[in-house]
Amino acid sequence: MDKLQIHGGIPLEGEVRISGAKNAALPILAGTLLAQETVSVGNVPHLQDVTTMIELLGQMGVSVTIDDKMRVEVDASTIRECVAPYELVRTMRASIVVLGPLLARFGKADVSLPGGCAIGARPVNIHVAGLRAMGADIQIENGYIRARADKLVGAHLVLDTVTVTGTENLVMAATLAEGETVIENAAREPEVVDLANFLTSMGAQIQGAGTDRITIHGVKRLHGTHYDVLADRIEAGTYLVAAAITRGRVRVKGARADHLDAVLAKLREAGAKIAVGENWIELDMGGKRPRAVDIRTAPYPAFPTDMQAQFAALNTVAEGVSAVTETIFENRFMHMLEMRRLGAEIRLEGNTAIIRGVDKLTAAPVMATDLRASASLVLAGLIAQGTTDVLRIYHIDRGYECIEEKLEQLGAQIKRMPG
Ligand code: EPU
Repeated sequence: MDKLQIHGGIPLEGEVRISGAKNAALPILAGTLLAQETVSVGNVPHLQDVTTMIELLGQMGVSVTIDDKMRVEVDASTIRECVAPYELVRTMRASIVVLGPLLARFGKADVSLPGGCAIGARPVNIHVAGLRAMGADIQIENGYIRARADKLVGAHLVLDTVTVTGTENLVMAATLAEGETVIENAAREPEVVDLANFLTSMGAQIQGAGTDRITIHGVKRLHGTHYDVLADRIEAGTYLVAAAITRGRVRVKGARADHLDAVLAKLREAGAKIAVGENWIELDMGGKRPRAVDIRTAPYPAFPTDMQAQFAALNTVAEGVSAVTETIFENRFMHMLEMRRLGAEIRLEGNTAIIRGVDKLTAAPVMATDLRASASLVLAGLIAQGTTDVLRIYHIDRGYECIEEKLEQLGAQIKRMPG
């Protein structure tokens, strides 16, 4: 298992290009199952989770080709079986997004229940309830969701909780259902909008994506398309925090500032100067120590849970005391305990972490249990005095393309080694 070794204390300077968004690429690749013709998807990030999704499609018998620019071509007409097996779903919960498309296009889907997860319980009851309301017969048997439907029919759905992949599954299912589906309390994340734009480019009729009420008029068939995945706002946000924590100056290219309003507001509050252009964002800390900022995660457009750990790292060395409250996932604080090993002063009270900024962190080996937690430990390593080893780096490879190359490009001393 590889580790990342980071020599901390260097202010990051320079430019970095942001990759395609993992959490848009995954549902879009699943959405290719809906088309009658070949679909090509560009700006796909080269990530372990994307490889897993492609493997999942391949195992079903779907033809997938990838060129050297990570342009992925999918022809679902060769499908043999509509099964997402436990072996793959347990490595990537997002595999659940094949449920809606398989059922809508082929009338059946056997998808393993994802089970527990390092950051919380993460049930899929809302996905299942929505598909049942659209006429699917769904049984939970032997750890699998076994879904069948001769045809899906439009329904009026009010989601109990805002769920990103739940909304995506139901939107995809509704594109080929008979009649109109309305999804209330829908997720408004940019990745949902990107998926809706992709589906629209295949002939789907979708209104209201990006609001909490999405209306879909089912069509008989969806056709081929080419679509480029949007830039990853969480990757962009992570590099901006890397600049802030090291008191440096970094421009992220290809990123959209309007997808990061809540994050940029917090970075400004922390004392960063932010400049934005049409597809770039620049953060300049002017050599100053960041100020502590309170964070409360909530569905988009509020502050994203996927940036909580990175801001926790920032707060560990900021001036002042902060409260970081996680409201989406019940167990997303594992990084806090690891950061304590670097000298951070953190007290946990339920779903809130009280962080008192210290003058310096000191290097130690640390280990992470999920993707964003790993990223936050890399950020902490960038400022810690000495050499920090971040273990179990495979988590990071699920969601950050070439992280050590990109950080090196910004002047960080970081290398991957067997650990
Ligand atoms: N929930 C239910 N029932 C459901 C579905 C969700 O109770 O049927 C609850 C969850 O337990 C959670 C809340 O609703 O408390 C929100 O979860 P959501 O369903 O929105 O999360 P997700 O769709 O499984 C996606 C991202 C996550 C990101 C969350 C929240 C993808 C592939 N994953 O997960 O990304 O944290 O939305 O924004 O889009 C990551 O990239 O590191 C990551 C974990």
